Amino acid sequence: MLKKLFQRKNRETTVVLMNESKLYKPSAATLKNATVLNTEAVYKDALKNPVKYWEEAARELEWYLPWKKAFSEPKKHFFNWFVGGKCNIVHNALDRHMGTPTEKKTAIIWESDHGKRRKLTYKELKSAVCKMANGLKSLGIKKGDRVAIYMQNTPEIAISMLACAKIGAMHSVVYAGFSAHALRDRIDDAKAKILITSDVGYRSGKHIDMYSLCNEAVKGAKSIKHMVVVKREESTRKKNAKRDVWYHELVEGQSEICKTTVMDSEDPLFVLYTSGTTSKPKGIIHVHGGYMVGINRTFHWVMDVKPNDVYWCSADPGWITGHSYIIYAPLMAGITTVMFEGAPNYPKPDRLWKVIEKNKVSIFYTAPTLIRSLMRFGDEWVEKHDLSSLRLLGSVGEPINPEAWRWYHKVVVKGKLPIMDTWWQTETGSFMIAPLPATTLKAGSATRPLPGIIADVVDKRGKSVRRGEGGYLVIKNPWPSMLRGVFNNPERYLKTYWKEIPGYYLTGDLAHKDKDGYFWIQGRSDDVLSIAGHRIGTAEIESALVSHPAAAEAAVIGKPHPVKGESAKAFVILKQGYEPSEKLVDALKKQIRKELGPIAVTDEVEFVDKLPKTQRKDYAASFKGKGARPGRRGYVGARRLNHLQNTQLNG
Ligand code: WT7
Repeated sequence: MLKKLFQRKNRETTVVLMNESKLYKPSAATLKNATVLNTEAVYKDALKNPVKYWEEAARELEWYLPWKKAFSEPKKHFFNWFVGGKCNIVHNALDRHMGTPTEKKTAIIWESDHGKRRKLTYKELKSAVCKMANGLKSLGIKKGDRVAIYMQNTPEIAISMLACAKIGAMHSVVYAGFSAHALRDRIDDAKAKILITSDVGYRSGKHIDMYSLCNEAVKGAKSIKHMVVVKREESTRKKNAKRDVWYHELVEGQSEICKTTVMDSEDPLFVLYTSGTTSKPKGIIHVHGGYMVGINRTFHWVMDVKPNDVYWCSADPGWITGHSYIIYAPLMAGITTVMFEGAPNYPKPDRLWKVIEKNKVSIFYTAPTLIRSLMRFGDEWVEKHDLSSLRLLGSVGEPINPEAWRWYHKVVVKGKLPIMDTWWQTETGSFMIAPLPATTLKAGSATRPLPGIIADVVDKRGKSVRRGEGGYLVIKNPWPSMLRGVFNNPERYLKTYWKEIPGYYLTGDLAHKDKDGYFWIQGRSDDVLSIAGHRIGTAEIESALVSHPAAAEAAVIGKPHPVKGESAKAFVILKQGYEPSEKLVDALKKQIRKELGPIAVTDEVEFVDKLPKTQRKDYAASFKGKGARPGRRGYVGARRLNHLQNTQLNG
């Protein structure tokens, strides 16, 4: 089945890839709990008037001042929601719980890599956020400033993000698996004034020297005024006295009160960089008003949240999943959210199940790559644990192949619980295509667009394709939590999302709808790979490769991988005077690591004399790379021209 899933012969006109017809109906227990029951009527109503639907969703949150107009398009393809409304997402995530019973509830349970647990109540979290917000102010941070955050999955990352939002500064969280070079690029692009990090981080018992990496990243960075460092070890490392501030010293003595800044609905909340089709990542902008409405509604409805839930999303705050559904949405819902620093198989392959048992997790949201990696260790690791606290599962990041879906369903929850396969993107801010608990499921399909979202599969001209036929996945109506732009690059925003198929938001994914109108996502149509659920552009890897003195040109493709979903393979033309060798393969892999970090790990490097200019559908075959995926533009060699212009030599 795996093979079938990834067999993408001609991805643009794919005829049904998966034919999973088995239906999984919701159980009586699930139906009894479900927030939304009369689903068909809800979908129909929302379709008739999506703006009204979203206005109703917006009323579930608190606003300092109500909006005057729900929706407008001041400039073509630039959309505003809840115009004239005043709010702050932190007011909804923290302030409004004060003085209510939620105040004493556990907001965050943190499981460290070492297996230590730390809990913070809503009240404690609010004070910590206020102190940090005051600390940031004391360093000169003002509304609209950018603050970069590079940290492991710890409470301090949540506190720092919330502290920025509270005072109207934009956070720019960079996933801690990126290299110093990649961090620097993102700092420069956003012109961040402060970088928040920790002295060390831990992963699988290993020590990660965060401080040195950050020190290297900010060397000469003009915008950076200070580095705030969380001290996790009694380190003797000498600080840069003028620039560096210890986190604990910064918050010490600060007031536990900090007024939440009143923001306009459309004021930016954060920028989050994501890979695209060029070597430069895009800074995706989200705003306070629409974003909070989108994630709040979808979280309640899809994850079927109840006040006593202990919810665990195993993603990292460095990705949109972590922003929306580890931090903001669970806190707005006033439930307990688990933050997990560790690795799934450390110290043993039952770490996840242990965390679920220990904390009585009721909702668990994870990624297919993780499910596949744990499947390999066998069922006994799961069966050792009492997982009866679980009542709902979620999946995100890539298509979940039916085998992994069934294992998750059968072994982890004994066939009893629904799995919410949620399709969405950094750009969409919140879930777009996903079931509701009362939906009949099919293993491997994210089912249907949520109420308020109109999605379709179309051809190049924007015409809907027939059911069962593959095409481009587009969104036909604007929605509140959509990106508001690409940081400092409105042209790129327009070109990437609105110009290719005029009138519709282009997702960059390929999909098809089956006879029941269920959507099956087949992967990206552009030059973006998903390696273990991490989005990475082939152009970024190519650019990293040609920065090595031996490489003249490079082309990177994605190949199916049984655990990671996709893996990167690079073809490299060497400059004159260099000979292919294993040593050089290692050096090039190291170069990628240096430029981009461990997340861009490239499994194979092959030396070639020329990069072929064959059409994409023949390209894979020409390299015997079964199912390999070349770029969208017809040639992998299209970007090669750029490289040729930038390099003296060619192959
Ligand atoms: C891309 C977005 C959204 C949070 C995580 C990734 C792929 C995401 C699914 C799913 C099939 C999925 C798409 C999408 N994707 N969820 N449930 N089924 N594919 O966010 O890094 O912005 O990546 O991830 O290809 O375009 P991201």
